[in-house]
Amino acid sequence: MIYQDTINKIMDTARIEEVVGDFVSLKKRGTSLIGNCPFHNEKTPSFHVSVTKGIYKCFGCGKGGDAVHFIMDHEKYSYPEALKYLAQKYNIEVEEKEQSPQDVEANNARESLYVVSQYAANYFASELWTGEQGRAIGLSYFKERGFREDIIRKFELGYSPDQWDALILSAKAAGHKEEYLERTGLSVHNDKGRVYDRFRGRVMFPIHNFTGRVIGFGGRTLKTDKNVPKYVNSPESDIYHKSNVLYGLFQAKKAIREVDNCYLVEGYADVLSVHQAGVENVVASSGTSLTVEQIRLIGRFSQNVTILYDGDAAGIKASLRGLDMILEEGLNVKVVNFPDGHDPDSYMHKVGAGAFKLYIENNRKDFILYKADILLKEAGTDPIKRAGIIRDIVESIAKIPDDIKASVFIRECSRLLQVEERMLLTELNKMKSARSKKAFSQQNPPKQQFSSPPGMPDGPPENLFDDNFSPDLPELETTVDNDQLQEHEIVRLLLAFGHELVSWDNIDNMYIGSFIMQNLADVTFEDEVCKLIIQNYKEEIENGHLPVANQFIKNENRVIADLAITLSTSPYALSENWYNKHQIYVRDETVNLKATILGGLFHLKKRKVDRILLGLLQEIKTENDPVNQEILMQRYAYIKNVEREISKFLGSVILK
Ligand code: CTP
Ligand code: MN
Repeated sequence: MIYQDTINKIMDTARIEEVVGDFVSLKKRGTSLIGNCPFHNEKTPSFHVSVTKGIYKCFGCGKGGDAVHFIMDHEKYSYPEALKYLAQKYNIEVEEKEQSPQDVEANNARESLYVVSQYAANYFASELWTGEQGRAIGLSYFKERGFREDIIRKFELGYSPDQWDALILSAKAAGHKEEYLERTGLSVHNDKGRVYDRFRGRVMFPIHNFTGRVIGFGGRTLKTDKNVPKYVNSPESDIYHKSNVLYGLFQAKKAIREVDNCYLVEGYADVLSVHQAGVENVVASSGTSLTVEQIRLIGRFSQNVTILYDGDAAGIKASLRGLDMILEEGLNVKVVNFPDGHDPDSYMHKVGAGAFKLYIENNRKDFILYKADILLKEAGTDPIKRAGIIRDIVESIAKIPDDIKASVFIRECSRLLQVEERMLLTELNKMKSARSKKAFSQQNPPKQQFSSPPGMPDGPPENLFDDNFSPDLPELETTVDNDQLQEHEIVRLLLAFGHELVSWDNIDNMYIGSFIMQNLADVTFEDEVCKLIIQNYKEEIENGHLPVANQFIKNENRVIADLAITLSTSPYALSENWYNKHQIYVRDETVNLKATILGGLFHLKKRKVDRILLGLLQEIKTENDPVNQEILMQRYAYIKNVEREISKFLGSVILK
């Protein structure tokens, strides 16, 4: 358990824009920061960060929270893990209460995989720098390849001794369990149950996730024997998912954001060489073909990808189709080709850093034009082949989500292919409409979770975020058979105005929070989360403390925090056709706070009373005993009276 004092310190220190900014490239818009949501795939940003409130909210997928929630959601950390991450980021010492051994065990299984991986990285590095074999074989190999010491250290490169169990022995002596070595794939066992190191006699490339934790390894052999695989890699594990990882992203992400471009290469060696030359915005897909997850990972930092290809033509052609996927994700793709079968690493060594940078500056081509170029050269003058190319190119263009961008390519390709622009456009539209029909019949996921209250113009939560933000809002449900809307409104009012002091009629200098709670003594909430919040609020007041909105917004209980955030970022959430019915639309509800508060209260009460009346009517209908029926009818008349009073009150007060 982390002490509350420490938690408070972390919460006070963490700045939402910095925490989120490590993962999402944010741009200032109006009073808030916006970016592409890291939790769902989107092309136009609907992920908002409010610096003053210390929270984020995506109006696309509905996710929201504070800095801790962000890390929990994004890194899939537990609450204490997220706190520790932030503590580390801000150099805050974490004070913890003692945990039981069982707690430690349960909480730390995953953590242990990280820890043992980091241990192994340190071990390999120390073998490289101080081990006899490591220095003689590993370090001299890296130096021969021209890697500087600072780069070797920055990427935590290492060496695994050519022994069966060097790592296992060392790790066990340091108190690590065999189980975790095996679960990370650092050790393997054979049929006879014999356990040995996976990596033996290889130079080691630790693979980091983009927060910098070691999650796996690639080990390169130094032998030239064709029967020995060049690379041995960590298997998938609970912490290592190959399709979600880009080698070098941790070391590159800052530069990618700053330069607003990401270079994509193939191998570890390419990353190291290019990075060493001062081009630090470089990552590798590490031998596997690029996945959508990897593209999205890049997309969090920049929308621009430049692929640095090894020069061989067959390889390039084979990969062209895969690149359409990047277009589909809405990223801008450029390609640089190296001459004479060079890869980035070898070309760097041939020409040096300065000429290398110049070369990539001068030789980057837009992917579509590059593709057209290659295919055209291949087709020569064959008209049938040329027609095929047109289809092929337009197909790529059709994948670009941005119409304006697509039309620019159509124009350029029309020149390149010597085909009329109009013809290409017709082809493009045919493909697009075929595709959208298919997509429409296949799926239709609800995208929006943010909803305006009924009777309100659809629109953004203007009081919190930006003025010109307008997400596509879903159709609103007009028939609601529970009191959720009214209950939400009460919670919203508590969060927004609970701390305001008011003096109305026969109340004097009272907090709105206390006033609302007093008036709700006889009301039962149905919505589970509202119930929790109200219960909490009540208990606090009974203990002489008036809760603040942040207590709920930053609540450890996610459902509470989610609702609190949604309610404190949404505009007037008054229920049903409230505004329509009364033909009022109070732009600034604080102007008439009394009407707002009483309106919320009585509206909820009216809902509750209406429900009681409905229930009574049912009972009267099904009751056969005339005496009982009489009692029910009296009760009905009484409550109907209450209802009339409430309605009258609502009419007069609100409309005054
Ligand atoms: N790779 C792999 N297994 C192999 C060969 C390659 O996993 N048997 C992956 C590695 O991630 C490697 C990448 O594919 O980095 C690219 O392969 P290659 O260009 O052969 O590797 P380099 O890292 O460039 O190695 P080097 O220059 O040292 O030969
Ligand atoms: Mn290479």
